[in-house]
Amino acid sequence: MTASIIAIAISYLLGSVSFSILIARWLMKTDIRQHGSGNAGATNTLRVLGKGPGIAVFLLDILKGIVAVLLGRWLGGDSDWVPVLCGLAAIAGHNWPIYFRFKGGKGISTTVGVMASLCFIPVLIAGIIAIIIIVVTRYVSLGSMLLVVLVPIILAIGGWSAPYIWGAVVIAVLAIARHRRNIVKLLNGTENKLGSGKKGEP
Ligand code: G3P
Repeated sequence: MTASIIAIAISYLLGSVSFSILIARWLMKTDIRQHGSGNAGATNTLRVLGKGPGIAVFLLDILKGIVAVLLGRWLGGDSDWVPVLCGLAAIAGHNWPIYFRFKGGKGISTTVGVMASLCFIPVLIAGIIAIIIIVVTRYVSLGSMLLVVLVPIILAIGGWSAPYIWGAVVIAVLAIARHRRNIVKLLNGTENKLGSGKKGEP
């Protein structure tokens, strides 16, 4: 029990390491949250700093999610709940980072790492569909939301156990809540398209 709680706490602290903020600080000497969409994530890093930094943030944020789930598996014994809770804690850390005044990102890259570690095939299927939607519409936010909504549905259809399905449901609810500004912009046609500059300056 103690080991599980420690694993969850470490996962939150790990998730709080916001690579978009750190890399933008390092390269631009500025706060990524003051630029582009204002989001501390890979998409906004790509938008503001370009492909290299964007891909680096994407991969590092994925890695946080993977490490958190592995930690949960290591310290959680046989429980499926502990790795799921560690993954959720890492996403929460990314969204509300303790080191950066609790103003973080939307958790999608970290979610990819968490879900790929927990349920690889379902997230692969959802990921392929999400990528097609992003390529066709150029709305990353739309693809991100589709990804998180599809995973619990695929898990339920596939008969996965409760921790995975409920974990994916909570992740989806969190992600949709974090995308509420994107939803408004999608509805009124002002959402940023991939590669279209800085239309969404806050
Ligand atoms: O993963 C975040 C993405 O879905 C939206 O990011 O910066 O366009 O709000 P952004």
